[in-house]
Amino acid sequence: MKKVTLTINGIRKQFIVHPDRVLLDLLREDLRLTGAKQSCDRKGQCGACTVVVNRKATRSCLAKVADLEGAEVITVEGLGTPQNPHLIQEAFVLSGAIQCGFCTPGMILAAKALLDEKPNPSVEEIKAALRRILCRCTGYKKIIEAVQLAGRFLRKEITPDQVRPDPNGPKIGVNHPRPSAMAKACGVAEFSADIKVEGAAELAAVHSPHAHARIKAIHTAAAEKMPGVIGIMTAKDIKGTNRLKFVVADRPVLCNTTVRYIGDPVAAVLAESREQAVAAAQAVEVAYEPLPIIKSPAEGLAKDAPQLHSDWPNLCYSQPQIRGDAEAALAQSAFVVETDFSTQMNHQAPLEPEACVAYLEEGDEGEEPILVVIGRSINIHYHLGMLQGALGYENMRYEEAYSGGQFGIKIDITSEGLAGAAALHFRRPVRYIPSLTESMYLSPKRHPFEMKMRLGADRQGKLTGLTMDYVVDNGAYLSAGRAMIFRALYMLSGSYYIPAVKALGKLVYTNNPWGSAARGAGPPQANFAVESAMDMLAQKVGMDPLEFRLMNSLRPGQPKSTDRVVDQWPFPELVEAIRPHYNRAKKEAEDFNRKGGSMRRGVGLGTGAFGISMSGDSANVAVELDPDGGLSVFAAAADPGEGNDSMLTQIAAHLMDLPMSKIRLVTRSTERTTATGPAAGSRMTYMVGGAMVDAIQKLKSAMAEAKATTYDQLKAAGKPNRYMGTKKNQDAAAKIDPVTGLGSSFESQVHAIQMAEVEVNTKTGDVKVVKMTTAVDAGMVINPQNLEAQLEGGVDQGVGYALREEYVAGQTKDWITFRFPTVTTACEMEHIIRETPRNTGTLGATGVGEMTMVPTAPAITNAIFNACKARVRHLPATPDKILAALGKA
Ligand code: FES
Ligand code: FES
Repeated sequence: MKKVTLTINGIRKQFIVHPDRVLLDLLREDLRLTGAKQSCDRKGQCGACTVVVNRKATRSCLAKVADLEGAEVITVEGLGTPQNPHLIQEAFVLSGAIQCGFCTPGMILAAKALLDEKPNPSVEEIKAALRRILCRCTGYKKIIEAVQLAGRFLRKEITPDQVRPDPNGPKIGVNHPRPSAMAKACGVAEFSADIKVEGAAELAAVHSPHAHARIKAIHTAAAEKMPGVIGIMTAKDIKGTNRLKFVVADRPVLCNTTVRYIGDPVAAVLAESREQAVAAAQAVEVAYEPLPIIKSPAEGLAKDAPQLHSDWPNLCYSQPQIRGDAEAALAQSAFVVETDFSTQMNHQAPLEPEACVAYLEEGDEGEEPILVVIGRSINIHYHLGMLQGALGYENMRYEEAYSGGQFGIKIDITSEGLAGAAALHFRRPVRYIPSLTESMYLSPKRHPFEMKMRLGADRQGKLTGLTMDYVVDNGAYLSAGRAMIFRALYMLSGSYYIPAVKALGKLVYTNNPWGSAARGAGPPQANFAVESAMDMLAQKVGMDPLEFRLMNSLRPGQPKSTDRVVDQWPFPELVEAIRPHYNRAKKEAEDFNRKGGSMRRGVGLGTGAFGISMSGDSANVAVELDPDGGLSVFAAAADPGEGNDSMLTQIAAHLMDLPMSKIRLVTRSTERTTATGPAAGSRMTYMVGGAMVDAIQKLKSAMAEAKATTYDQLKAAGKPNRYMGTKKNQDAAAKIDPVTGLGSSFESQVHAIQMAEVEVNTKTGDVKVVKMTTAVDAGMVINPQNLEAQLEGGVDQGVGYALREEYVAGQTKDWITFRFPTVTTACEMEHIIRETPRNTGTLGATGVGEMTMVPTAPAITNAIFNACKARVRHLPATPDKILAALGKA
């Protein structure tokens, strides 16, 4: 041990530590300063643990306390508090740089070290200072702007009050700071791993190293005797179905007879410390009998393929779409593109590990205790039901902690099953903070698609027909896999009118990691093929890609490929809006390329019409007028970083004409809230916002009827103060025909056209995205910063998806092997925002969260082709694929 004196946030203190103790653990575990986060298993990869040590930004997971004698440490808690924030914290809040907030403390402290040293840094200096800190939500643009604004505050060029919107001014269309932003900026918002439960033991899981094997025996005796071990839990200890049933009951909490992918959980160890639990998990010996492995959908569909699940065939779902006679249309077409495309398996990559806590809370006398699970769910009522069935325990409550990013991964539950089961089995509070590798094992992935398609046009360039067959690798468990098939199908015709369509999507069980929702969920994959083919076809027709897209735009009164006729379609206006930018970019690329050499510049387009609210979708929200005239909103409306809290607060304040401080959200617990469905599918503003508008209108009608302006007057008139609002998709009863795939599909659409400007090094195959320009129309804008933030985050993820990111089972284990986008890979972004009020929207607004994830990748690969004639049809567009395509070109 070593005695060390540190000054932490101005307080001098002595510590006696093990020589290996790192500063991060001292701060988080001993001092409960949980503003410093960890994402990368203390490998120095994420920067979430950054604090200031002796005026330098320092990754606290790498700093040994024993080496810090006399050091001065500043954590985000020491910088300021929500009541008295530091100017840098103000700047982050006011710039809209905080989404999930997991990276925020590290970013703020890196900014502090930079601005102390260089009061007026350049963008390049800001990027250099932030280069080791990852953010998955923002695309880094607003973070850079926040550091610039902080500099202006500190240099006294401007004050926060000059930037802050007037709290008594308009509530809609204004950048009011998010309700949780300041708590996140000050490090006091608690994420799952920050929650202290007294006496909690730590859990570690044993995962299968095999993709497919029978479990012959699990030997736990040696591990049970190890220091600190409380016990070891296997499938036999779980009292319920042991199946987490999302759609079908195929995924076990703990495998009992068979493992079906690398990472399937087999046993769980509970110990007094995490180190002890991990050590004991490594000592558990599992005897496996390897079984034949289904490596691909083709193998899964082979006649002699083993059946992966006895209750379900390997072809777990298929859906056609047939509109008109596409074969005849293509046979008569003057131009046809026929080719294949594929997209990779990918990880959604929220920064926060899949952490959760679970404990038993004493209930009323004579009742069994309540199992409380606090975790990262975006659909707490639905997930509560899944846990109740799997664990065989009814008396439960689910609470949503602040969570560090989502992007579809939280549509299903992961660690909660293990933690909940362990809390019941061992009757001990449990904390489960899986490692990054484990988090990758436990969580679902973006489905890889293999697509074969033909797209035709007549002599004038009008689209005639489309055929598309796509086979989707579902991995080992179904989860929301079916939705990927039908979402891809229902948005297949994208922005265009295609008279005849014949498509078939197939979903196949394999022994790969299980797939589920990932930002966009189906359309990013199918749209990559369609938008690539649009450019290929434009070239055949001899038209400019922009004119070709405009000519083929769907118009109001025409049907999508699902046969649903649209009444609003503001896509042509977006094409016109981007046209001057396109002309500018083409001219700059021509000038650039005229210089010759191996560097080539290109411009590419991609478009998308993203559907919001499937038929059958509905949401309920309750509101209560409070005695002081404020409004409480009760809805299980998760906000893992998109800004749903902001949306509800601003709309409610606007409709009730109240200050935003008088809107109280009750959203994070299954107790007292209504079920609103998942915070997914870009549906929250449209559906949940819409349900709240309905509830508020009912309240206001009751107040008008009672001639009441206050709570007391309303009550005196004998009227209730609580009202339930609903939003139901207008086509709730209409179903898609399972034979033709035709029907109502999505009720609302957000539209975008995106332009990529890239530079390709034709010697190395390296691609730099210079700029992405997005023209978007999501209806009326509730909060411009939040809208831009969604566009920017989606673009950054889209660039990663296009060029770098891929989840390779068994190889992708951390943020380096995942190739996480950093501030140095982020591109310049510009947005053109149009507001066409949506007839069925929430105050004219629809959703936008996934929009830019859809056309970014094809815009980039189209730009690569435009630059150097290398057509990449299989994502990601890595240098080797570009060089191979150039060899063929
Ligand atoms: S936890 Fe320190 S860099 Fe990731
Ligand atoms: S706000 Fe940066 S990771 Fe979410």
